[in-house]
Amino acid sequence: MKDRLEEMSRTATAAMAQTDSEAALQEVRVRFLGKKGELTGLMKGMGQLSAEERPVIGALANRVKEELENLFDSRLAVVREAEISRRLARERIDITLPGRRVFAGSKHPITLVTEEVVEIFAALGFGVAEGPEVEKDFYNFEALNIPKDHPARDMQDTFYITEDVVLRTHTSPVQIRTMLRHAPPVRVIAPGTVYRRDSDLTHSPMFHQVEGFLVDKHVTFGDLKGILTAFVTQFFSEKVGIRFRPSFFPFTEPSAEVDIQCVICGGTGCRVCKQSGWLEILGSGMIDPEVFKSVNYDPEVYSGFAFGVGLERLAMLKYGVSDLRLFFENDLRFLRQF
Ligand code: DAH
Repeated sequence: MKDRLEEMSRTATAAMAQTDSEAALQEVRVRFLGKKGELTGLMKGMGQLSAEERPVIGALANRVKEELENLFDSRLAVVREAEISRRLARERIDITLPGRRVFAGSKHPITLVTEEVVEIFAALGFGVAEGPEVEKDFYNFEALNIPKDHPARDMQDTFYITEDVVLRTHTSPVQIRTMLRHAPPVRVIAPGTVYRRDSDLTHSPMFHQVEGFLVDKHVTFGDLKGILTAFVTQFFSEKVGIRFRPSFFPFTEPSAEVDIQCVICGGTGCRVCKQSGWLEILGSGMIDPEVFKSVNYDPEVYSGFAFGVGLERLAMLKYGVSDLRLFFENDLRFLRQF
């Protein structure tokens, strides 16, 4: 019995010394010291021993057990240490590798232009308003004095959701929504996304406009000219020529389109301005009394002007972009230039 205990102790000691992982070490422990391990197995033979032998062997067994447990503890520390070192070596980070470059984003040119337009008008006392892109026929057309048979209502131009609901074709409905909520005087600028069934080199089915309008007592066409001239000279340059050309919109009377001298050729005539030397940049006019009626403003007391600008067009002219589609392709080589 004594020999077998000592034999087992040697085998266990050797086995522990050979382990190089915590898992392997635990296995050895279970094999020798576990509940069903070899030591327990040997102790079952105690019953056959004589009364003198029993305490001696018992004491020996306890000592062997204690020694092996101590051995286990110290081996465990060694093995764990080794495992950590191995892991550190395996997961070593090469700090000499250059880091990954993080590119900072930049604002989209349409966003830049929108912000600039809003800023210029904010300085002139205009507040910002917004409206829904899915809009009722009433706001998009009816209240703007666009009768049912007007060409702008043609299915060619408008995305209809239902007979009564459309994707707004311009930002002008924000005029109606604002005037219905606020009594005059009002001075508002309304940037936003608009939609039309139109798609070619110079038209996108989704584009952006800024609407602006001002209503008060004694507002005249001279105010319209003054404000829009101030806007154009600030947005483009002091030197750029500007002209007001008679036009027609159902919601303004009289109406005028604003042209600027071609920013590409300086007015001498080129492909972009179709040799005319002028570029149309916005629509405007004195708000039609019919529009005032649909928002319960008294046209005898109040007058006002309104205008609508296409932001893609402003951006193309300002940055010299020749293809509208560049704004929507999200090509980073294009966007990083702004
Ligand atoms: N809503 C017009 C369009 O989308 C632009 C416009 C023209 C707006 C004249 C106005 C205006 O407020 O007075 O074509």
